[in-house]
Amino acid sequence: MKKTIRRILASAAIIVLSGVMIVFAVNFWYHYQVLEILEERPQGVIAAHGMVVSAHPLASKTGIDILKQGGNAFDAAIAVQFALAVVYPSAGNIGGGGFLVYRTGDGQVGSLDFREKAPLKAHRTMYLDKRGNPIPRLSLDGALAVGVPGTVDGMVQIAGKLGSLPFADLIQPAINLARDGVLLTEKQANGYNLAREAFLKLNPHRPYVVRDEPWQAGARLVHADLAETLERIRDRGREGFYGGKTAALLVAEITRGGGLISLEDLAAYRSVWREPIVGSYRSTTVISMPPPSSGGIALLQLLKASEAVSFKTFGHNDDRSVHMMTELERRVYADRAVFLGDPDYYEVPVRSLLSDQYLAGRMSTIDPDQKTDSTEVRAGTLPPAESRETTHFSVVDRWGNAAAITTTLNGGYGSKVFVEGAGFLLNNEMDDFSIKPGVPNMYGLVGGEANAIEPGKRMLSSMTPTILEKDGRLFMVVGTPGGSTIITSVYQTILNVVEHGMTMQQAVSSGRVHSQWLPDQIVIEKGAMGPMEMLQLALKGHTLKVYPSFKSTLGRVAAILVQPDGRYEGAADYRRGVDDTAAGY
Ligand code: GLY
Repeated sequence: MKKTIRRILASAAIIVLSGVMIVFAVNFWYHYQVLEILEERPQGVIAAHGMVVSAHPLASKTGIDILKQGGNAFDAAIAVQFALAVVYPSAGNIGGGGFLVYRTGDGQVGSLDFREKAPLKAHRTMYLDKRGNPIPRLSLDGALAVGVPGTVDGMVQIAGKLGSLPFADLIQPAINLARDGVLLTEKQANGYNLAREAFLKLNPHRPYVVRDEPWQAGARLVHADLAETLERIRDRGREGFYGGKTAALLVAEITRGGGLISLEDLAAYRSVWREPIVGSYRSTTVISMPPPSSGGIALLQLLKASEAVSFKTFGHNDDRSVHMMTELERRVYADRAVFLGDPDYYEVPVRSLLSDQYLAGRMSTIDPDQKTDSTEVRAGTLPPAESRETTHFSVVDRWGNAAAITTTLNGGYGSKVFVEGAGFLLNNEMDDFSIKPGVPNMYGLVGGEANAIEPGKRMLSSMTPTILEKDGRLFMVVGTPGGSTIITSVYQTILNVVEHGMTMQQAVSSGRVHSQWLPDQIVIEKGAMGPMEMLQLALKGHTLKVYPSFKSTLGRVAAILVQPDGRYEGAADYRRGVDDTAAGY
């Protein structure tokens, strides 16, 4: 009998051991593949005169064409934004919003907030049932999920303040693309096919991108109504969108779907020039987006606190590095949930959150050998007196002007609502509000009073368009889509260059990890860490979640690094979408 028990135990031990060895071997294999990718493409595109990195080759080309015609980085950025609305409609848009962070060749910095706003009729309980519970998907799907779009006003503002070519010349390439039609890439054909049912369910009419047979790569898609809308914007500027026929069509669509946006909302929309968040990290100056984005504050909190961590000694994606990043991120995202919201409605304690004293206090609670449970992490105590589709593109020109724009419809294809007769999609940005304290949004982010819905208020964002200076000169332009993972992807990309000495391309192509306080876990891209490091991390008490596919990646970084000789290295994230393109000249 004892012998039998011993045999059973021995067999069980062999099975468990074999299982562990297989898991180890598989993870070694993933990790090896990631390292191979890094070796295959050690450097991005190098060019002397200008660079555009965006989510689609035709958008990048459009930007380069404008630069070659003598336009500056801001002209090119406007042209890219409109081109993306045609060639990359799952996130590129005129029916959404976004942020610009800029630096001119002579060192002036600034930011433009063209984030969507809650409609004037919006109210706190608009997504709750009679018992006060959130109604599933109401803030995500259909007309009620739509915030008042800001993109067109933003582009008009950028042209007026920073552009050099006539606005009409910057929008014309997008009109041409829409009229001539665009050959679908495989990724886009798949995207439309996957969204087909949602498009049919969420529109009272049949959107023009829906057809009986599935889309194939290489098919030509003409955007006739969108071309006309863009022509109205070309000819009438912001009035071509916020007034006249486009506004009438938009409000009719919203009203049909039970939404709240009115002609008054559209007429009242204005984007806002804001002081960017500026701070130092090692030998660089970081310029990033202020509230209503949480991105700039969170990124600076992470980078400033990182100065006290020996990332260089630990090495890239070593368990000690990932543990420290995670612990910092837990605290920063806990702060985000409580303190950050639209600064026009809520006093955001920017200076306190970024003060050395505050950050040192937050750091002091980190144990280098053991994780802190997220339930034990709370937002910090401040001194009382002081107060999953988005897209990013980076542009630089020969004069050293730099534009970092992150723009979004929020989810892929936003609310899925097409404005009939106008050919564009509307955002579902209302989900970025805290629809009820403690209830997570589509990115698992929670919030409270600071980010509660109010009429005319902007919803809190994670978008982090960022520019770095070194020795008083442009050093890096960086940003990414990815919802709540935007901040940590930008953070790691900067660490990869500054701490780990990577090229821009290696920094973008390296595997990433992510944590955000809640849920209490570390998400790891397949192959981003070696199995031994993952084991060490688990022994520190962390819950690890490995993305199941190489296609599931955190962010999709589009970045440019200035080389010591002054040329630009443009790096697109080639791991997930084959459409992302760095183009230089
Ligand atoms: N819609 C994603 C963000 O703004 O963070």
